[in-house]
Amino acid sequence: MTTDIRPLVEMRDIHISFGGVKAVDGVSIDLYPGEVVGVLGHNGAGKSTLIKILSGAYVADSGTVIVDGKEARIENARDARDHNIETIYQNLALADNLDAAQNLFLGREITDRFGFLNDAAMEHKAREVLHRLNPNFQKFASPVSALSGGQRQSVAIARALLFEARVLIMDEPCAALGVHETRMVGDLIAQLKQDGLGILLISHDLHDVFDLSDRLHVMKNGKLVGSVRTEDVTHDDVLGMIILGKMPQHLLHLAGPGATNIHGATLRPQDTETTGPTL
Ligand SMILES: Nc1ncnc2c1ncn2[C@@H]1O[C@H](COP(=O)(O)OP(=O)(O)O)[C@@H](O)[C@H]1O
Ligand SMILES: [Mg+2]
Repeated sequence: MTTDIRPLVEMRDIHISFGGVKAVDGVSIDLYPGEVVGVLGHNGAGKSTLIKILSGAYVADSGTVIVDGKEARIENARDARDHNIETIYQNLALADNLDAAQNLFLGREITDRFGFLNDAAMEHKAREVLHRLNPNFQKFASPVSALSGGQRQSVAIARALLFEARVLIMDEPCAALGVHETRMVGDLIAQLKQDGLGILLISHDLHDVFDLSDRLHVMKNGKLVGSVRTEDVTHDDVLGMIILGKMPQHLLHLAGPGATNIHGATLRPQDTETTGPTL
């Protein structure tokens, strides 16, 4: 445990309402480099709304977003990208009729000094990035509509990496995938973690994210139920948090009165000078 690691991202006391509905109601979460953090909760808990504030799709009514220790104004997707925050939505937002390389460079194509597209350079770079992520990836020339769910996910992640993502947000990454493909996405995530990215995995399904995550932030009805280290909890503990909206008993006595506070919940008594995760 070191004290010099600061979070890549902190969201503090975020509020946003739609009409009378408090979609996110005073939520604080954080994410450290080299860490995979699950954001869990039933449908309607406010997970997507929370991360849309980080990705610039919504602007919070109040609260603070801090990136690399500095307060960040994120009012649109471009601002998020400027802070090296990339989001992969469930539909992946790929252009189905284009191939992998074309998708990777969509909107920021490499051109030569005359302004013509440099297809060879783009394909070369696409192969390099995709092979690093997924050595079995072969279908460079096929439209992405012909790819499997896991391969499409690889293309979407590669696209984010080309934008120099340091924070990767994945909303329900495994929702449409079979067992094999889910494992493949798990391998991809493990590799990104090794590279020092911070990854937020949003899911309504505990089983999708439990094994991949170092920590879990659980939400219910727009509020943060608590944040826990995965190694400190069982599936049943987390199901209890999701369904009942309460911290597990055995973590309450460790964390004391700040149990629903993110730092309190992740602290053990010997860790009192630092709030960083075990890396
Ligand atoms: N654009 C919107 N307009 C109105 N209500 C919304 C909007 N987005 C989300 N909500 C509401 O906010 C709450 C949280 O939704 P959401 O963040 O999508 O939850 P989750 O991703 O956890 O399933 C829900 O009650 C949902 O109906
Ligand atoms: Mg959602």
